[in-house]
Amino acid sequence: MPSEPGPEPSPGGGSSLADALVEASPNGVLVADGAGRLVRLNPACARLLPLLGDPLGRRATEAVLVPELAAVLEPGRDTRDELVITVGHRELLVRAVPLADGCGGHGRLLLVEDVTRLRQAERHRSEFVANVSHELRTPATAIAGYAETLLEDRDTLDPPVARMVEVIHRNARRLTELFDDLLYLSRLDAEEGPLPLAPVLVAPVVTECLDKVQAAAADKEVTLQTFGLDGVRVLANREALGHVVGNLVENAVKYSHQGGVVTVGARRRGEGWRIEVIDVGIGIDPSHHERVFERFYRVDKGRARAAGGTGLGLAIVARLCGKMGADLSLRSQLGSGSVFRVWLPQARD
Ligand SMILES: Nc1ncnc2c1ncn2[C@@H]1O[C@H](COP(=O)(O)OP(=O)(O)OP(=O)(O)O)[C@@H](O)[C@H]1O
Ligand SMILES: [Mg+2]
Repeated sequence: MPSEPGPEPSPGGGSSLADALVEASPNGVLVADGAGRLVRLNPACARLLPLLGDPLGRRATEAVLVPELAAVLEPGRDTRDELVITVGHRELLVRAVPLADGCGGHGRLLLVEDVTRLRQAERHRSEFVANVSHELRTPATAIAGYAETLLEDRDTLDPPVARMVEVIHRNARRLTELFDDLLYLSRLDAEEGPLPLAPVLVAPVVTECLDKVQAAAADKEVTLQTFGLDGVRVLANREALGHVVGNLVENAVKYSHQGGVVTVGARRRGEGWRIEVIDVGIGIDPSHHERVFERFYRVDKGRARAAGGTGLGLAIVARLCGKMGADLSLRSQLGSGSVFRVWLPQARD
């Protein structure tokens, strides 16, 4: 049976505010000293983690019966660690931080949060979105398909009718694209863990992405150009890298002015390559930089709607970069264009 140690008395005799907070916290709190021995744990910790009886004074790695925690409890470790572990039917978010002083010096503080219901709710949300998108995609595809068939014989239609069918077609296409993006994001949410990585030549991926936006760029007289891509090989997931560069290039063209320039290139940075997608378009005020990577976030909703955006492109980019271990950053000012940068490690032979 796990023991439930009570609050340690403060020097004054009663419990200090900090003691009371630790004892009453619904989150587990565990402290190991510089020698790795357990010097404190609150009742929530004893409830959430399986422990040896009478754990205080024992080495934390022996007293806490969860092998995955051994590494983050190592004495002297000076990193902040975060991991999700499954203990019985519970999912626990564990954060471990080094303690600079007290507790024998260089101890570790472990915070344990029960995230079972949160993770369950996230899974339900994701499944619901995937199911709804799947069900709605089918009729939207049929509407787009029939509208396209009607437009093939545009000459036989009255001009006002042809215009209406065009609107139906354009909007049905937007719906299918939206459902595709939602399904793709749900799939990424459902598949836990990183994506499989392999050496990927960057130049062909960029060429495919530029080909796809060629028509849209020509409509706006936007010039597409590249630099530094020859022979660049990174450790990545090819399909994911295609989606990342594809979304960034699509945005760069969409948010360019008439006659603008979109550039895709690679620069050597440390042990890897920074792939850059640069435009000289409308730019993004720094106050929006963090939020543009959220789902459905659009800086200027009116303009984005007119441009046909739903605000999922950058959410997909951020999710894929996270799953590839790629570092994603943005430099932009309103009115002076944007640079989206993706750093990936160099692929070894
Ligand atoms: N290169 C860019 N220049 C200026 N603004 C941009 C750029 N890229 C993204 N944005 C802003 O960030 C918002 C989010 O981009 P995101 O790609 O997620 O959505 P979207 O392009 O509106 O729609 P979609 O889901 O079709 O990609 C955009 O609506 C736009 O306001
Ligand atoms: Mg986009």
